[in-house]
Amino acid sequence: MSNPSEEELIHMFKGIPFTTRSSPELLKSLETFDAREDDLLLVSYPKSGTHWLVGVITKLYNTQVTLTSPIEFGDLSKLEELNKLSSKRIIPTHLDYNMLPPNFKKKKCKMIYIARNPKDTAVSMYHYYRDNPNLPTVDTWTAFFDLFLKGDVVCGSWFDHFLSWEEHENDKNILFLFYEEMKKDLPKTVKEIVLFLGLNISDSDIQDICKNSSFSQMKSDTEKENSDPSHTVCTLTSNKKLIFRKGTVGDWKNHFTPKQNRRFEEIFNEKMKLSKMAKNLTFEF
Ligand code: A3P
Repeated sequence: MSNPSEEELIHMFKGIPFTTRSSPELLKSLETFDAREDDLLLVSYPKSGTHWLVGVITKLYNTQVTLTSPIEFGDLSKLEELNKLSSKRIIPTHLDYNMLPPNFKKKKCKMIYIARNPKDTAVSMYHYYRDNPNLPTVDTWTAFFDLFLKGDVVCGSWFDHFLSWEEHENDKNILFLFYEEMKKDLPKTVKEIVLFLGLNISDSDIQDICKNSSFSQMKSDTEKENSDPSHTVCTLTSNKKLIFRKGTVGDWKNHFTPKQNRRFEEIFNEKMKLSKMAKNLTFEF
C-alpha cells in the first residue's frame, strides 16, 4: 500500500496546516467553546517538551483531575466530551494564541506555555515526521529544514506561534517555561509551577516528582504502559514511544550544516528582533 499523500494527511485552517486528526468543524467550533475558570491549559509548539510538562503537572495534584487530549484533536463530539467531564480539566493545545477559544481568555484561565530552542525543536520534529505514518513523508533533513523555516509544517511557523504567545508575557494568568531551563534545574521550574498554580507541595515531594519525571524514567514508564488510548496526550499517533527520542539540548549540532546554521540565525535574528524572550532561547546556539 502506498503512503497517504500530503493532501490526505494535512488541511489548512486559517492559513495554518493541521493534520486530518483536527476536523475543520471542530476547529471552527472552538470559537464558541465554553471554558471553565479552573481549566488549566498546557500550551506548546509541537516537540517543545509538552509530554514532559504533562508528566510533571499530573504528578502535582492529589485531587481528581482529568488530562484531556489536545483541544484541537478530534471532531465535533470532542466538545461534548469535554463538557461532560466533572473534574478539573488539564487541556493541552498547540494552538496559536489567536486561535485559542476566546472564552479561555475571557475567564482568565491559567495557561502554561513551554518553549524550546527552535533549532532543537526543528530537529525533534524532523525525526517525528520521519517516524510517524500520520505525517507527510520527508525525505531528507535538508528538505525538512526548508519546510520548518517556511512554516510549512503542522501548526505552522514556530516564529509566529512563539510570538503570538509572547505578546501576552505580562498576562498574570500565563506562565512561560523553557525546556532548557527545565533540563538545567527541574526542581526550580517545578517550584515556579507550584507557586503559579497555588499548590502546596513540600520540597521532598518536589524532589520525588522530578526524579519520576526524568527522561529515562518517563521513557521506561511509557514502555511499560499498555496502549491505553486515554494516556495519549499530544501524539499524532497512539505510539507514545515516538515521543521519547533523545531528550537533550543541542542535538541540532548533529544535523545543521554551518550554512544552515547561518541561515537559521539570520532568520531568527530578523523575526525575533523585537522579542524580549529570544534571549531565553539561545542556549547552546
Ligand atoms: P527529542 O526529539 O529532542 O528527544 P513533545 O512532548 O512536545 O512532543 O516534545 C518531545 C521532545 O521532548 C522530545 O525531544 C523528547 O525526547 C523530549 N522529552 C520528553 N520527555 C522528556 C523528559 N522527561 N526530559 C527531557 N526531554 C524530554
